[in-house]
Amino acid sequence: MASEQAGVGANASMEFYKTERKHSIFEDESRKLPVAVCSVFIGPDGKLRPAAFQETGMIFKCEDQARTAKAFKRSIELSRDIVLQAVPSDGRLAVTGRRVAVLFSGGPAAGGHNVLVGLKAALGPTNTLLGIKQGPKGLIRGDVFEITTDQLNAIVNTGGFDFLGTDRTKIKTPEQFASVQQTVLKNKLDGLIIVGGDDSNTNAAFIAEYFLERGIGCSVVGIPKTIDGDMAVGKYLPISFGFDTATKIYSELVGNLAQDAASAVKYYHFVKLMGRTASKITLEVALQTKPAITLISEEIAEKNMSLEEVVDYAVDIIAKRRIAGINHGVVLVPEGLVEFIPEMRALILELNRVLAEYERDIKDLPTLKNKQEFIYPLLTPQSAQLMASLPEEIEEMLILDRDDHGNVKVSQIETEKLLIEKIRYKMSQLKRHTEKYFGEGDGKIQATPEQIERFKAASFSTQSHFLGYEGRSARPTAFDAAFTFNLGLAAGSLVLAGKTGYMAAVTDFDKGGTVLALPISGLIACETRKGKEELVIAKELVDTASPAFKLFADNRDRWALQDCFCSPGPIQHWGPTSRQMPISIALKQGYADYRHFNLGEERQIELE
Ligand code: FBP
Repeated sequence: MASEQAGVGANASMEFYKTERKHSIFEDESRKLPVAVCSVFIGPDGKLRPAAFQETGMIFKCEDQARTAKAFKRSIELSRDIVLQAVPSDGRLAVTGRRVAVLFSGGPAAGGHNVLVGLKAALGPTNTLLGIKQGPKGLIRGDVFEITTDQLNAIVNTGGFDFLGTDRTKIKTPEQFASVQQTVLKNKLDGLIIVGGDDSNTNAAFIAEYFLERGIGCSVVGIPKTIDGDMAVGKYLPISFGFDTATKIYSELVGNLAQDAASAVKYYHFVKLMGRTASKITLEVALQTKPAITLISEEIAEKNMSLEEVVDYAVDIIAKRRIAGINHGVVLVPEGLVEFIPEMRALILELNRVLAEYERDIKDLPTLKNKQEFIYPLLTPQSAQLMASLPEEIEEMLILDRDDHGNVKVSQIETEKLLIEKIRYKMSQLKRHTEKYFGEGDGKIQATPEQIERFKAASFSTQSHFLGYEGRSARPTAFDAAFTFNLGLAAGSLVLAGKTGYMAAVTDFDKGGTVLALPISGLIACETRKGKEELVIAKELVDTASPAFKLFADNRDRWALQDCFCSPGPIQHWGPTSRQMPISIALKQGYADYRHFNLGEERQIELE
């Protein structure tokens, strides 16, 4: 009896240890799951092969043509900013001996590992795929290694960027460009693939131009990655990879919080959602979960709403819900909100200018009080007053360093807490001056004396959450797994075809996928970063005229006054919801059904 028990225990413990290092039962099964492949990458023998590219009739025209024509002279001479479309290669791309290196740049996004697998599938066994560790920093340092097929087969369909690592270094100085050149020459690279968002793909365009100027025969190709969803180009690139997985994870959690709010009936859950500048993630999560209140930064900026007006909007809903007997709910707050509230935006722009000019002096000041004394006189009186009215933690975060690309680190600004504080104060005002806020008349909330008494007896209890990092490194959804594999195939094909300065793209998610190459120079716009004008790929933000926003706007008042929330549940990699793509993207692209993507024939991926 005793030995039987020992036997069972030993077995169980062996199984337990086998799951270490990414071998959970789920991860092992995930690696075997089939991935959809666009037909352009499948040869007549049924095997994967690279595609060729031909010009389309579409030319990208950027806003500031004079500046881009100068900055990307040779790239534009070559591409004429014409969009390319992938076509079957008919064996024309029997290229061998090429050495192609790849790096991840910026924040992780689900599906990065499948990009690598797709790249290798396009390059085939006769070309070499190399990895660059730790993103652009590794490119500068020359941290390059050869990737084996065994390594790739082990990371198929897995989440994270940990196989290569990543970072946010902006390649900008002549010394950095020279180091990149050295890495490329030393490793005899014919291709360099940069997997990143708007800043990283801008980096790719500048490196491509630098190589062309110097006659270095290394193609530079970008791959659109970011959970934020702002790296998108109309119908040519509906979305970047990682958005689908991140929004599904956040939607599950927000659905659970809405369920919790309705169960415990005492809390408002304020959820700040990642997405940096764009509210695309927030809009998608709102469509998936139908919460009580959703703030969309782009709309707030368009309506020129002040912080007080945003607070009043939320207070009005919370008060009306309480009068109707609902004293709980979920409030979605986009991460970048503060940058869109006009007076906050003005303050941030002023701070950017001050920080650019006096970065060192401010850094050296030991306390927040010292920093305030230094900064306030350099701001306009309105901005200084606004800054002084903010909670100290927010002030501290606003004067934090910008990232290497000059972005405000919005993930570290606790906007949800700022809103809670201001809403709590306003709710207490409503309690204290019921005659001013309730009754008949313009802007007043209709309520009976009993309802007002009930209103006064209830309290405003909150919980704050920040959903961000949880969604970036998950196992990719079926959509992201397929999207990234095809992006890898596309980028590999572009390098083999000797194209440079392009970003790989896949569109027509409902029709088997159309594979495109977008000339990056045609996507560049001018942005003010750290107080200076910089050339960078234009971000695609929430369009308040889009079908997705309209659907949300048509329904939000109902969601505000009744509990209409739903819980989309966990991501399914197989099962009834496993084929879904983002609702907002399907609506924007005019697809008939968001519940079924079609990126081609499904097959299990195992490289030989
Ligand atoms: P990328 O644009 O590089 O993909 O990053 C996206 C993001 O997750 C943003 O949503 C967020 O504001 C930021 O990264 C957080 O950055 P960090 O990882 O440096 O904290």
